[in-house]
This record gives sequence, C-alpha cells and structure tokens, in this order.
Amino acid sequence: MPAHPSVTLRLMTEQDLPLLHTWANTPHWREWWGDELQTIEAVREHYMPRVLLASKVTPYIVMLGSKRIGYAQSYVVMGHGGGWWEDETDPGARGIDQSIGPVHLLNQGLGTLLVKTLVAQLFADPAVTKIQTDPSPKNLRAIRCYEKAGFRRVKEVMTPDGPAVFMLKERA
Ligand SMILES: CC(C)(COP(=O)(O)OP(=O)(O)OC[C@H]1O[C@@H](n2cnc3c(N)ncnc32)[C@H](O)[C@@H]1OP(=O)(O)O)[C@@H](O)C(=O)NCCC(=O)NCCS
Repeated sequence: MPAHPSVTLRLMTEQDLPLLHTWANTPHWREWWGDELQTIEAVREHYMPRVLLASKVTPYIVMLGSKRIGYAQSYVVMGHGGGWWEDETDPGARGIDQSIGPVHLLNQGLGTLLVKTLVAQLFADPAVTKIQTDPSPKNLRAIRCYEKAGFRRVKEVMTPDGPAVFMLKERA
C-alpha cells in the first residue's frame, strides 16, 4: 500500500446509488446541485440511464485508494440538448462536473487531483480536443479548484441552470 492512496475514477454502478443518495442530501451538495434528489427513487430515475450507459452523460465514482469519495461525470458537449451549449460545433469537446462526497474531505486538494485525473483520462482518447466545466460564479471554491487543475476562465455564460463561469482546458 502506498503511503498516500491515489485518486482514481471508475464507472458508477447501480450499487453506488444509495451512497450517491446520501451525498446528494448533504448541505454542500444541495447548495450547488439543488433539492431534486431527496428520495432514492429520484436518484434511481435520474442516474440509472447513466449507469446503463443509455444517456449522453457518463457517470464515475471517485476512489481514494479503495474508498468511494465522490462523483464525477463527463459528456459530449455538441448536441447535448435541453438548451445546453447550442453553439458548440466541435465533436471533440467534452464537459465535466464533479463533487466530493464526505464534507470532511473538502479543501484538501482532492478535488484538484480528481479533476486532473479525469482530464488525463478523457485526453487519453485522441478524439477529445478540449474539456469544459461550468461552475456557478458564486462557487469560488470550485472555480479555484478548477484553476489549480489547469482550467482557465473564459467568460460568464447563461445556462438552463442559471449563470455559470465557462472554464476551459485545451489539449496541451
Ligand atoms: C468543488 C470541489 C469538487 C472542489 O474540491 P476540493 O477538494 O474541495 O478542492 P481543492 O481542495 O482541490 O481546492 C479548493 C481551493 O479553493 C479554495 N477555497 C475554498 N473555499 C473558498 C472560497 N470560499 N473562496 C475562494 N477560495 C476558496 C481552497 O483554499 C483551495 O485553494 P488553495 O489550495 O489555493 O488554498 C468540492 O469542494 C465540492 O465537492 N464542493 C461541493 C459541491 C460542488 O460545489 N461541486 C462543484 C459544482 S461545479
């Protein structure tokens, strides 16, 4: 066992949904993700298509060694639908979202490690040209984390979920 367990990502499975339900109902998630995932049924309805890879969004569980510590997702930006990113014409653009589960693990650099790991994983696919993320302008912790992971602020945009800071990382 290494002294510091590493951060890795694996695909989310149905067995992870109860833990996701617990995380989704913590104050630090509800502050940024809203109140729509209060019941396990709502979590199943929202995430099962992703687990079954029947959605445009790919779901991951973030691991610290053998412990589950967070959730992340990636998606193809172009053609996402629902009023999102209608101007994107690059089929290689990907988007990411992520959150740390246990509150006591915030602000320890794990989010930065998680984003760097996910970015490296996505860029391993030569078809991927750039990766975007879109925190709320009020989410200063997330913005700082993404900057530390190599993203730059491009502009403020309006999304179907409200104002967001459009942040981008291009392939090096
Ligand atoms: C966003 C998130 C994934 C970042 O992960 P993390 O492990 O907490 O982030 P890190 O520790 O790597 O980096 C956080 C940075 O923000 C800084 N920070 C914390 N609160 C801050 C604030 N209110 N204003 C400015 N910077 C702040 C920290 O000091 C740290 O920067 P530093 O290393 O220069 O000191 C995590 O905080 C999280 O899951 N938050 C709740 C859900 C969420 O907001 N998800 C993202 C939606 S876009």
